[in-house]
Order: sequence, then structure tokens, then C-alpha cells
Amino acid sequence: MLGRKGVRHLISISDLTNKEFEVLVNKAQTFKQIYKNGSPQEFASNHQKLLGKTVALVFSKRSTRTRISSEGAAAFYGATPMFLGKDDIQLGVNESFYDTTKVLSSMVSTVFARVNSHSEIQQLAEHSSVPILNSLCDTYHPLQAIADLLTIKEAFQDTKGLKLAWIGDANNVINDLAIASLKLGINVSVATPIGIEMDKKILQTAEEVSKETGASFEHTHDPKATATNANILVTDTFVSMGEESETAKKLKQFEGFQISEEHTKLANKDWKFMHCLPRHKEEVTDEVFYNKNSLVFEEAENRLYAAIAALEVFVVNKGDFSK
Ligand code: CP
Ligand code: NVA
Repeated sequence: MLGRKGVRHLISISDLTNKEFEVLVNKAQTFKQIYKNGSPQEFASNHQKLLGKTVALVFSKRSTRTRISSEGAAAFYGATPMFLGKDDIQLGVNESFYDTTKVLSSMVSTVFARVNSHSEIQQLAEHSSVPILNSLCDTYHPLQAIADLLTIKEAFQDTKGLKLAWIGDANNVINDLAIASLKLGINVSVATPIGIEMDKKILQTAEEVSKETGASFEHTHDPKATATNANILVTDTFVSMGEESETAKKLKQFEGFQISEEHTKLANKDWKFMHCLPRHKEEVTDEVFYNKNSLVFEEAENRLYAAIAALEVFVVNKGDFSK
């Protein structure tokens, strides 16, 4: 998304062209190599890129992976990360969103923002003079999708024609993961409980991207049909942050949706399992979660390289994907 001041923000994967998304995944892969095996010169030159700058992490919700990866990415570029939790600053409390955003963005080089509603991210992007990197809102989780597609690329090399089977909720993580997968030619099948439907805007974007890449998209309420012939089985928490008061209702809705050996038997014999984490037992059995075919810990580690790639493109290169 292009903000009012011509600043390019990372709000959702839908905002990126297919090529731009591919650039982010490829950069994440390149930076993984540098991070693990780079020469001292490569580290030193990257460390200069944001040296002396600050990177704000405005987080209204808890986080393990997103916080660690964004602070790590800031350190990689020589910037100082500044964690601003919900009780630390006056975002939405005691001061208008506009005033806080103006002040915040006048002093930092970028803002990783984990907020509640999508409208909060939109307000930040509208008023910020520096890139806003959406670090989870109720509708999108783009940094997760970059890491997920890197993980799939590492596991399968060629992504075209794979089948990704999502058995879970219909919110932030799958909204971006579905579009991201379609952009790289992966067929997507989503199974949600009856009564939980995908966002109409996502369905429309999925249709458009499918036409461009030839990958298919379907939405069912049948986990077994979705798992059949899948290369990748994926789920997320059934009760997202902020929905805690609905726990009993949601767990009831998700009965029969736990990913288990039954689903892996329906899937392709070289199936893989993914989960953005944090994981709870009702979502997936231990046999699948800790299986040798499970990619969950590589996927979590890849969040670091996704955050480095996002900083490189949106902050260091100021939204220029051609560099
Ligand atoms: N997957 C993910 O975003 O994890 P955290 O909530 O721990 O950041
Ligand atoms: N859907 C989950 C994702 C956490 C990374 C949530 O919003 O809590």
C-alpha cells in the first residue's frame, strides 16, 4: 500500500504484485544464507544500512516470534529496536491515533505494528511518514506469509502445482497465506467449520490471482476432502488473540478439525505440516506436530529472514523492489 506521503507500507500480501511478493521471498532466502554463512564483510556492510536509526515495535498484543524476529532484523541492519507495548505508549489512549502516529514516525525509521483491528493499521499507514510493517492485525499477517512461502520453497524447490490444505479458522494468517500461495502457483484448499466463512475481499483477490497464475482456490467445510492429495497441511490457533471470551463457542465449532494421522494418510505421501505458532493441542496431534515431516520450527526461524527482507525492501531500499 502507498501511504499519503508516497511511503510504501507492508499491509497485506494482496497489496503486492506477484513479482514483488516473489522478490521478498527470494530476498528472505538470500539473507538466510548471509545470516548463517555470510562473511564478516557482508555482516559489516549490512550493519551500516540503518546504523544509528531506531525501529519501533508498537505491539498491542503478545508475541514471541514476531517480536524476536523484528528485533533481530533491526539488529542485523545496525538499528536499535524500541519495543513499545500497549501500556508503554499512548496509542489510542489519552491521545488521538493521528497525534501519536505523527510523533512516532517523526523519530523512527519504520514501525512494526501489531494491533487489533485492520482499521488501526490503516490509520497508522495513513498518517505515518515512515513505512508501517503490519505485524498482525485481525485481517492480515504478511510477515508470516513471507516466512511460510520461504519454508515451502525450501522444502519443495518448485512451488508450482503443489496443494496447500488449510484446516482451521478464516482470519489473518490464512488470508495472507492463501493469496501468497496462489501468487507462487500453489493450489489452495481451505476447510473451515460451517458458520466460519472467508472474507469476501479475500475470495475476490484469490479469484483474480488464480486467473493470473493458474493456481486453483477452493473453500470447503470438509477437512478430509481438503487434506486429500495435499502436499502441505496447515492450521493456526482456533482461538485468536482477542477472542478469548469466545473460547468455549469456538472450540465447539472446531470439533472434528484437529489435524491428525487420519489427514496425513489422505495427503500426498511426502506431506509436510506447518503452523505459524503458538500451537495448542486441539489444533493438531503431537504425532503430526512433532513428526519428521513437520516444518514448524524451520517456519518459525524463517520469520527472522522474512523480517530482514521486509526491512531491506521497505526501509533500506525505500519500497524499491528492483534493487
Ligand atoms: N506466528 C506469530 O506471529 O507468532 P507470535 O504471535 O509469537 O509473534
Ligand atoms: N490467528 C492468530 C495468529 C497468531 C500469530 C491470532 O490472531 O492470534
